[in-house]
Amino acid sequence: MCGIIGYVGEKEAVPILIKGLETLEYRGYDSAGVCVSVSEELNVIKKKGKIAELKQLPELSQINGNVGIAHTRWATHGEPNEINAHPHTDSKKEIAIVHNGIIENYYTLKKLLEDEGYNIVSETDSEIIAHLISKFYSGNLEEATMKALHFVEGAFGLVIMHSRERKIVAARKGSPLVIGIGNGEMFVASDITALMEHTKRVIYLNDDEIATLTPNNYSIKTLDGKEIDKNIDEIKWTVDQMEKGGFKHFMLKEIFEQPESIRNILRGRVKDNSVNLTLDFDFKEIEKIVLVACGTSWHSALIGKHFIEKLVRIPVEVDYASEFRYRDPLLDEKSLVVAISQSGETADTLAAIKEAKKKKAKTIGIVNVVGSSITREVSSGIYLHAGPEIGVASTKAFTSQVVALLLLSLYLRKEKNLSIDKEILDGLESLPEMIEKVLDSSEEIKKIAEKLKDKKNFLYLGRGLNFPTALEGALKLKEISYIHAEGYPAAEMKHGPIALIDDDMPVVFVCPKDDTYKKIMSNMEEVKARKGNIVAVINEKDDKISELAEHVIEVPKTSELLSPIVNSIPLQLFAYYIADFKGCDIDKPRNLAKSVTVE
Ligand code: F6R
Repeated sequence: MCGIIGYVGEKEAVPILIKGLETLEYRGYDSAGVCVSVSEELNVIKKKGKIAELKQLPELSQINGNVGIAHTRWATHGEPNEINAHPHTDSKKEIAIVHNGIIENYYTLKKLLEDEGYNIVSETDSEIIAHLISKFYSGNLEEATMKALHFVEGAFGLVIMHSRERKIVAARKGSPLVIGIGNGEMFVASDITALMEHTKRVIYLNDDEIATLTPNNYSIKTLDGKEIDKNIDEIKWTVDQMEKGGFKHFMLKEIFEQPESIRNILRGRVKDNSVNLTLDFDFKEIEKIVLVACGTSWHSALIGKHFIEKLVRIPVEVDYASEFRYRDPLLDEKSLVVAISQSGETADTLAAIKEAKKKKAKTIGIVNVVGSSITREVSSGIYLHAGPEIGVASTKAFTSQVVALLLLSLYLRKEKNLSIDKEILDGLESLPEMIEKVLDSSEEIKKIAEKLKDKKNFLYLGRGLNFPTALEGALKLKEISYIHAEGYPAAEMKHGPIALIDDDMPVVFVCPKDDTYKKIMSNMEEVKARKGNIVAVINEKDDKISELAEHVIEVPKTSELLSPIVNSIPLQLFAYYIADFKGCDIDKPRNLAKSVTVE
C-alpha cells in the first residue's frame, strides 16, 4: 500500500527512482512523485494517475541529482490529486518526505502546526510530518526526525531528505521499509522488489527504528537514539521472476506458474510417507487453533479449518484478522494462532499476531515473502516459496497456502502419532500434473468467459471444502472485472439469494464428485427451475449435468482434500478472461493495492 523508494549515491537518481516506482506500482497507483536534490535545492515533480503519466513529464529529464526519494500512492487521507501526491515538503522547501501509513493524531498535530503559523497545503496526514521535522530541524535531519516522531501516533514507513544534507533518513513503525546496500550507493524501499535490480544485500527495519544512509555508509538506531547492529540478509528472488515472461499479464503468468509453485512448497517437506516441517512449538500443549488472515488468504484459512479439524480433531476458529483484535479473543498459552499472508505485511494480520503474543498464545506464519514483518513476529512458520506474486489478485499464493495448511495438518497428525493417509500424499505429489491438465483447458474456459462477459451479476456456489472455493472464485471475478459476484454455500442459496435468480443470472457451481455431489445436483435443479444460467465445474460429465448446465468445465478428480486447489484454477482463469475481454487493467485493478499495510 503506497510504494516508496529512496536513493543516495553517485548515479543520476531520477531513472533509478522511476524504475523503482514502476516495480512498486502494484502497491498503489493513484498518483506518483519524485523529489531530487540539485545544488542544495529540492525539485519535486508529481502527477495524478499512474507512473506512466509521471514519466511523460518533460521536466523530469531536466533534474540531475544523486539523492532522491519517490512514492506511488494508494490514497487514504485526501483524494488522489497532484497536491495530495507525495513527496510533501515543508514550507521552506528544505525537507521532503514520502510516507506510507496513517497518522492517527493528524488533526491535533495539524491544529498545533497551523496555530504556530505553518502553512499546510494538502489534505493528507503525511504533509504534517514534513512541517513537524522542519520545526525541530537545526542542522541534523536524523535528530530532527527522531524529535518529530516522538509526537506522532499511528503507522509510518517514512523516508526523508534535506536539501543541504547528502543523506536519506528512513524510519519505521508499522509500515515496512527495507534498506538496500550497494557499492558506493544506498537504497531504501517499501519492499525488496524495488531493490533487486541493484543489490541482493538488504536490512529489514523493525518498528521504532531509524536508518541514516549516505553513499558509503549506513547507521541504524532505535527511535530514542540507541545504535543497533543488524544482520544483512540476502534476497533469494531473481530479477527475471519479476518479468511477465511473454504473458499478457502477471496474473496470467502466475496462474500458469502454479504447477511449479506447488512443487516448490512440497520440495523437501513430503518425504518417505511423512511430512517434515520445522515448527517451534510443542503441539501436545495445544488445545485450540485460530487461523487469522484477510481476503484470499482468509479463504485459504476456511479450507484449512476443514483440514485440521478432519485430520487432527482439534477445534479451529477462522477469523478475519481485522476483527480478531477487537473482540478480545479467548487465547492462552494452549492456543496456537496461525497468520496466513502472501505479503507478510498486511497490517491487520500483523496486529492480530501481536495481540496473540500479548495473550501468550503460540504463533506461526504461513507467508510467501521471506523476511517480511509477519515472519519476524511469529516464532516459526511455513514459507510458501511461490516466488514473487505481482498481480494484485492473488492466485498462486492462494493454492500454495492451501497446500501449506494441508502440510500443517499432516504434520500435526504425525505429532499425534497418527498415520498419514498415503492417498493424500500421493495426491499432493500428483497435484502439479493435475493443475497442468486444468491449464490445458484454458482455451475452453476462455470461450465460456467470452459468452458471459457482459453479465452484470454472478453467483458462485459450493459446499463443504468447496464453499471457500466459491467465495474465492467470486472474489477473483469482482476484483479484476468489477462485475458483482457473491459466493454462497450451495444449500444456503434457498434461504435468500435464490430470489436473485432469473435468466440473466449466471450461477457457477463447484461440483466435485464427492459426498456433496448429489446434494449439489439438487441445488442445481433449483437454479435451473428458475431459468438460471449454470456453469458447472465438475470431475466427469454425466447426463444429468449435461441437461442442467449450459457450460461445463471438467477438472481431474483428486483426493477430496485437494479438490479446492484443482477447482480454483478454472475459476481464476474464468475471472481473468472475463476481465481481459472487458479490457480491465488486470494487474492493477481500480482502488486496490497488493499489500494492505494500513489497518
Ligand atoms: C485478493 C487479494 C487480497 C489479499 C489480502 C491479504 O486477490 O489478493 O484479498 O489476499 O489483501 O493479503 P496478504 O495475503 O498479503 O496478507
